[in-house]
Amino acid sequence: MPSPLHVQFVAAARGGPWSITSVTAIVGDPLPTASSLTVTEVPAGSGTTGPADAAWALHGIVSNERYVEREEKTRLALVQEGLGRPGATSGALIPIHKSDAWWQLPQDDRRAIFEARSSHIKIGLEALPAVARRLHHCRDLGGPFDFLTWFEFAPEHGAAFDDLLGALRATEEWDYVDREVEVRVSR
Ligand code: HEM
Repeated sequence: MPSPLHVQFVAAARGGPWSITSVTAIVGDPLPTASSLTVTEVPAGSGTTGPADAAWALHGIVSNERYVEREEKTRLALVQEGLGRPGATSGALIPIHKSDAWWQLPQDDRRAIFEARSSHIKIGLEALPAVARRLHHCRDLGGPFDFLTWFEFAPEHGAAFDDLLGALRATEEWDYVDREVEVRVSR
């Protein structure tokens, strides 16, 4: 088994392939604004701080899936596309923290909220294959967020991505989101 992929998101005044177009606090504390974002695969154990000139650096791990069931996994695999498509010049990094109330729930209650009552995957599938995504876990790394969610899409699918955000934020699952920052980027 390859070890899980470690990924660092570094915001700085310059240097990244992605230009930061906006940083918006949706719930809770914001992140400092910066001009550029770099997304780098880093060795495990390389720390969470980033370079000295970084405005901020966030570190996550592409971990195993927690909620997805076999039939959903099959449907996702049929339609989802990978990162790095040449036309996908718009992106978003959305770091998210969920409340203690969420983390105290047993796994079956969390799955019920996530999909049976919030239709996270069903809603998400409507945005595929236009939006490519990668989920990074970071709760166990001790940083300020539990998840770093990353999305790439062509500019003409920006409205579909906005609709997706609106639909997910209206769900019961989002009642448990107590910090969310939307970092929009383009390249
Ligand atoms: C592009 C369409 C999307 C699809 C197909 C999708 C699909 C999924 C799937 C399958 C999982 C479960 C992974 C697992 O089994 O552990 C997941 C988790 C997650 N997604 Fe999405 N998603 C989409 C969009 C979004 C967006 C736009 C956001 C943020 C605004 C988001 C935030 C999250 C978070 C935070 C989790 C982790 C939930 C947890 O473990 O508590 N997703 N997503």
